[in-house]
Amino acid sequence: MTDYRTLLVDERDDRVVVTLHRPDKRNAIDAEMVDELHAVCDKLTREPKLLLLTGGTDGIFAAGVDIAQLRDRDRYDALAGINHGIMQHIRSLPMPSVAAVDGPALGGGAELCYACDVRICTDRSFFGQPEVRLGIVAGAGALYRLPQLVGESLAKELLYTGRRLTAADALAVRLVSQVVPADELLATAHALLDRMAKVSPLALRLTKLAVDAPADAHPQIEQLAQAVLFEDDEKRRRMTAFLDRS
Ligand code: COA
Repeated sequence: MTDYRTLLVDERDDRVVVTLHRPDKRNAIDAEMVDELHAVCDKLTREPKLLLLTGGTDGIFAAGVDIAQLRDRDRYDALAGINHGIMQHIRSLPMPSVAAVDGPALGGGAELCYACDVRICTDRSFFGQPEVRLGIVAGAGALYRLPQLVGESLAKELLYTGRRLTAADALAVRLVSQVVPADELLATAHALLDRMAKVSPLALRLTKLAVDAPADAHPQIEQLAQAVLFEDDEKRRRMTAFLDRS
């Protein structure tokens, strides 16, 4: 598609591949990119598909929110939650998202990949929250997502110091589920999405809805999800196919 300026968007039957594309600014997330990501998410909400979010394989995922714009934002911009809004939009998509990271994922760039359901990266990737060094907080999700992802002590150390995690560190603390060479990144991400594309689409959607539900919504949310799925023709078809296999 040609009508995006900061993204390359490749829409396929079962997935949309979004490549961040501000190479001159190391894919820094500016207001235009936020608007364009919202437009993609609006479409993915209307027509649910899997999402592959990447910075490509030229050694940069995203260098964070555009600092030139951040410097000029005021308290009312902060209260509008511009960057948090797009992270939340991605996280609440109906179908799963996979972030494929090659190179730095810093600040808002790291938060962008935390907003995805699954993260994989290359061996030259690194992750960090340098916001406090710039005199701000990590306002687009890291303050609560990072402790969930890597535990309180490490998350606070990273948030308080801006220390970066290498790809090996990120794998060791399960911030990412796989580390692969750069030339295998996109194929690995697509293979993951291929597996998701083979399962029951409604079971996948309801699993995503339930797994992200607040702790006090369990177990009722899975009971409701299961009640819906037990009446779904797809479940009967899939179970019958298993039982009838020769
Ligand atoms: N916002 C705005 N512009 C950015 C940017 C950001 N977050 N990150 C990089 N850029 C711009 C640089 O200003 C430079 O622009 P110029 O060529 O017009 O001078 C260009 O992108 C290249 O950046 P450079 O630092 O030379 O690239 P590098 O490959 O040497 O380093 C990074 C890449 C990502 C390690 C480095 O750019 C960096 O540390 N960026 C800032 C990370 C950060 O603090 N993010 C938190 C924001 S909340």
